[in-house]
Amino acid sequence: MYNKLMKCLASVREKTDFVPEIGLILGSGLGEFANEIEIADTISYTEIEGFPVSTVKGHAGRFVFGYVEKTPVVIMQGRVHYYEGYPMQDVVLPTRLMGMMGAKKILLTNAAGGSNENFKPGDLMIITDHITTGVPSPLIGPNVEELGTRFPDMSEVYSKRLQGIIKSCAAELGLTMQEGVYVQFTGPNYETPAEVRLAQTWGGDAVGMSTACEAMAARHMGLEVCGISCITNMAAGISKVELNHKEVQETADRVAKDFKALVAKIVVNM
Ligand code: HPA
Repeated sequence: MYNKLMKCLASVREKTDFVPEIGLILGSGLGEFANEIEIADTISYTEIEGFPVSTVKGHAGRFVFGYVEKTPVVIMQGRVHYYEGYPMQDVVLPTRLMGMMGAKKILLTNAAGGSNENFKPGDLMIITDHITTGVPSPLIGPNVEELGTRFPDMSEVYSKRLQGIIKSCAAELGLTMQEGVYVQFTGPNYETPAEVRLAQTWGGDAVGMSTACEAMAARHMGLEVCGISCITNMAAGISKVELNHKEVQETADRVAKDFKALVAKIVVNM
């Protein structure tokens, strides 16, 4: 794994010497964010030897390097999901690569179903913690000592400092935030109502198909992590209508303007 990462890093370094301070992995609705920053460089995933190339909607995806005001960032435009069939180690390879490029902090966002019945579609939720029981840990397999320890602590995956910054940025923009625990399932199917009740019993407030694995890989290598879910729909069983990707996309698009403003503000303050 480490050799593969070093090869990917060498591939990136052949094309750019940009050193990001922050890595951004943005979910549904925020893809456009990357086009609105001051772009310094881009690298298509297909140009990086050994890099997992996402199959969603036929978009290969790319790294976008640039500045949000003065802050150097790298954005994954198009993330890799476990449900596409990649081993979990490949799903988190881009996260690790961002860290190896120099990023010290990671901001993750996603679209999620609300399992907390006090939420409503369109809410933004600061991720305070996560549950990944049911998906394999990305840290399974020989430990990459160069990145981190065999048994990493996960008592504060989502930095309390960064959660505070998200709250004050949201307040300045007049945005109300929810807070809660994100439960990662494998997807690509949405959960059953029974699985959503399970998530509720566990203390889960939102359910989704990404993010927690990337957060764990980032913490393993000592990066400071934060995350925000866009609640695009109420989770199965709470929602009285069938779930579909169109509804998810529509809510994500409706919130995108506020969400992008929030992400931009967080980035310059984190
Ligand atoms: N479940 C899982 N992933 C999701 C959902 C959901 O209800 N909505 C958006 N992504």
